[in-house]
Amino acid sequence: MTKAIARAAPVFSVVLLSLSSLLGACGSCDDGATVDTSAPVVPAEDAVTPLAEPWMRVIPFQETPEGLETIRAAECGECHTEIYAEWQTATHAVALQDLQFQAEWNKDDKLWFCANCHTPLANQFEEVVVGLVDGDYRRPVTEHNDRFDPVLEQESITCATCHVRDGAILGPGFGGESPHPVRVDPTVLSQQVCVGCHNVHARLSPTLVCNFSTGDEWAMGPAPREGLGCIDCHMPTVERPIAEGGPVRTSHVHRWPGSGIAKFPEDVETVRGFYVPGYQIEVTAHRTETDEGEAAVAIELTVTNHRAGHVLPTGDVERFITMSLSLQSEDGVSLWDHEERFGERWEWHPEARQLSDNSLEPRVPRELLFEATLPADQGGADGPLFVEVIGQNHRMTEENAESDGILGQYPLAVETMRTRVEVTAEEAPVQD
Ligand code: HEC
Ligand code: HEC
Ligand code: HEC
Ligand code: HEC
Ligand code: HEC
Repeated sequence: MTKAIARAAPVFSVVLLSLSSLLGACGSCDDGATVDTSAPVVPAEDAVTPLAEPWMRVIPFQETPEGLETIRAAECGECHTEIYAEWQTATHAVALQDLQFQAEWNKDDKLWFCANCHTPLANQFEEVVVGLVDGDYRRPVTEHNDRFDPVLEQESITCATCHVRDGAILGPGFGGESPHPVRVDPTVLSQQVCVGCHNVHARLSPTLVCNFSTGDEWAMGPAPREGLGCIDCHMPTVERPIAEGGPVRTSHVHRWPGSGIAKFPEDVETVRGFYVPGYQIEVTAHRTETDEGEAAVAIELTVTNHRAGHVLPTGDVERFITMSLSLQSEDGVSLWDHEERFGERWEWHPEARQLSDNSLEPRVPRELLFEATLPADQGGADGPLFVEVIGQNHRMTEENAESDGILGQYPLAVETMRTRVEVTAEEAPVQD
């Protein structure tokens, strides 16, 4: 019954997804791409091709450094208690248990290379893929790992992923007294370790595509000029002892806050507490009255990715951001509403392809104009009007959560901002 009309001026066209079933950061459709377990375990020598791409390989098996019993996070945590507690709240610590990962991985028959970034050390694999038959990713050649550590596997992206290489602990090099050997390796323990997992482009089959561009987006954006890398923004520094009873050091918070969307319903508030917004909004709204007593309201919304070092949303192509606008009477009754969506849209059949992308580029304000006309009998000309804007980060759509069988168990979105401004009268035209 609302006669209100919205003339949105955004510069993109909304394209509807024709079909989308299974898509993750590595997205695919359920096209039956399965690993051929009947492939010979030791095929003819000449048929085995090496793992050509970095994402096909895991971090080689790591020996436990002297002075330690294992390389498990739980052991590091006996001395590095605060850092361990932070890591436990991070998505890195549950990259294997993540319900969405499990759902999508199972649909892909536990495709071997998915684990390469979710449990990245050879120590975390019972069978390690060492080559492919005829270069075919569906025919991996595996080697049994007698030293497989199932506890370490459950730690997903664990301390050792970034800190253990060749029998030493990689660190900034404080020169303190530690029970384990320490080595400074600014190549491994740097942004490179992040980009190794957060920047991949691979097309494995028409419908199986891995597409993360966070590293490229960073390199092309303003952050390098501002001297800010992944670690500066995602691991802020804090002065504290880094080991129980040790001296105060310049330390890094190990929580890696991102979108603010928790992985488990019970963690929603905790994770929201760590969230650092990457965008800000500005809203203004003016009204003019027509002779018929209608109120024409012009709403200007500017969304700026002012703080992130990459486009927003970044990473998984399923992520999106929404801004819900509502024009309200004084008592909060909605008279007009509109939802703006930012992110990519993909089609997965018959061939995976990007349909559109209106993600927010760093430091580039996105200005959107809307116009709503309220008839006189709907509050129209009399009474104050307000515009409310609610921003949300989304991990995935309800439709995709339903198809993954995790709807209702998995937090899909989080409110990131909310503002309400009063609609002002149009400024009188300037007279000369
Ligand atoms: C090259 C490394 C890499 C590989 C290989 C990889 N992933 Fe991931 N995955 C990531 C990164 C990085 C993220 C986090 C990015 C984000 O959350 O936007 C992620 C996140 C995810 C998520 C969670 C998305 C979210 O919004 O939390 C799912 C589900 C997922 N991956 C599934 C898979 C599946 C299935 C495969 C195999 C087909 C796979 N991944 C292979 C690196 C990888
Ligand atoms: C028995 C206690 C203990 C255990 C277990 C332990 N550490 Fe340490 N670690 C220390 C102490 C003490 C220091 C020195 C602290 C200082 O210099 O302020 C240290 C230093 C470090 C540093 C900084 C080194 C530098 O100077 O750059 C890193 C990184 C580190 N440990 C990581 C780890 C990781 C990862 C594990 C598990 C694989 C681990 N530690 C296990 C006690 C421990
Ligand atoms: C071994 C691969 C790997 C490495 C190394 C890695 N990440 Fe991740 N990262 C992931 C995966 C996989 C996820 C998603 C886990 C999930 O959703 O369950 C993730 C999640 C994140 C998130 C959280 C996104 C969200 O909204 O929850 C941030 C932020 C992040 N990583 C930043 C970093 C930074 C910064 C570094 C480097 C210091 C780094 N990562 C290193 C694989 C990796
Ligand atoms: C995704 C990579 C990654 C993971 C996982 C990770 N760290 Fe770190 N850690 C870093 C980076 C990067 C630094 C900062 C290095 C620098 O300043 O040169 C760091 C620094 C440290 C330091 C030195 C003090 C400080 O805070 O800067 C300690 C100690 C440490 N980490 C322990 C751990 C422990 C214990 C775990 C597991 C509970 C862990 N780290 C997991 C990347 C990681
Ligand atoms: C200048 C600061 C800055 C830099 C540099 C930066 N990030 Fe971010 N990043 C952010 C902020 C802020 C957010 C939270 C955005 C939001 O959701 O409001 C974020 C979000 C993320 C997310 C979650 C996905 C999303 O869209 O919210 C991932 C994953 C991520 N960053 C990874 C990385 C990696 C990997 C690098 C390095 C290549 C990096 N970031 C560099 C500030 C930064």
